Amino acid sequence: MHHFAYRAGVLHAEDVALDRLAAEVGTPFYCYSTATLTRHYKVFAGAFADVRALVCYAMKANSNQAVIATLARLGAGADVVFGIPISSAREIYAHAAKLPGVRVTGVDMHIGSQITQLQPFDDAFVLLSDFVRTLRADGHGIEHVDLGGGLGIPYRHDNEPPPDPAAYAEVVKRATRALDCTLIFEPGRLIVGNAGIMVTRVLYVKRNRTDPSTKTFIIVDAAMNDLIRPTLYEAHHDIIPVKAPIVGASRTVADVVGPVCESGDFFALDRALVEPEPGELLAVMTAGAYGAVQAGTYNTRPLIPEIMVRGDRFAVVRPRVEVAELISRDRIPDWE
Ligand SMILES: Cc1ncc(COP(=O)(O)O)c(C=O)c1O
Repeated sequence: MHHFAYRAGVLHAEDVALDRLAAEVGTPFYCYSTATLTRHYKVFAGAFADVRALVCYAMKANSNQAVIATLARLGAGADVVFGIPISSAREIYAHAAKLPGVRVTGVDMHIGSQITQLQPFDDAFVLLSDFVRTLRADGHGIEHVDLGGGLGIPYRHDNEPPPDPAAYAEVVKRATRALDCTLIFEPGRLIVGNAGIMVTRVLYVKRNRTDPSTKTFIIVDAAMNDLIRPTLYEAHHDIIPVKAPIVGASRTVADVVGPVCESGDFFALDRALVEPEPGELLAVMTAGAYGAVQAGTYNTRPLIPEIMVRGDRFAVVRPRVEVAELISRDRIPDWE
């Protein structure tokens, strides 16, 4: 459930019309909905209201400080990831417990992301419970378990939705009840994924008029550097027009691509869409997680702005980085 919907024929983020926003901030841009973020956090945290639990939003999904501040105000903690080399887990705990000033009090796991079935969680949580018992037998006073993130979200409007937080909570509680531990969670995508979209403008529609059986390309002003998930993971994002299409409008099968000259520069391949006119706006849905944070400046394309909406207000929560600023960071060595 999210707060991007058509009103009077125009897609809105909460009470803000996205065509108006595009006119004010320029395209492309990311747009986040405070009401959606709030709802997702509350639904997840609410599923654990009857146990000792802390929900730590996984900042790697979207580390914009406006997103973090919104969640912090609701009571969320924050999860920050960095890498450590793994030997066996049991040895790591034994090693850590010998370090001066360190007491081992918890166990942390994360089995993956965009998991849409409960069984893998169930299996992993059973292993985790066994591991806690092993560590306690080794003399470590384990007081909390961190069960990671990973619960999937619907990327396609026409798909069966993944299990909701209440069903996930049942699995968690069943596996951890006997441990008498505080539970910690690190959800990222579930909180922010559907709370963000990317808005882009159609530059050009390329058809082969002599052979209509060949591909149509819809070329937009966003590119792979702005949202790399489709090319990096073959990820699906629904793409919808900002101006609502006429009911029953015919569809064409097209690739939606960016203006960078690359085979990987696409947002959708062979997608059935109502064919837009140049200048029209498209919304790439479910782009709040692993979108802006993975953006880059390939092809000297400046990072696009991030906008947050609350009700009928909006704020630029990261301004567009201009080309001049981008290239001003380069240094030419004066050795010749
Ligand atoms: C250690 C860790 N915790 C939490 C997350 C958040 O996962 P998700 O966004 O799928 O909830 C990740 C993401 O991969 C992660 O690596």
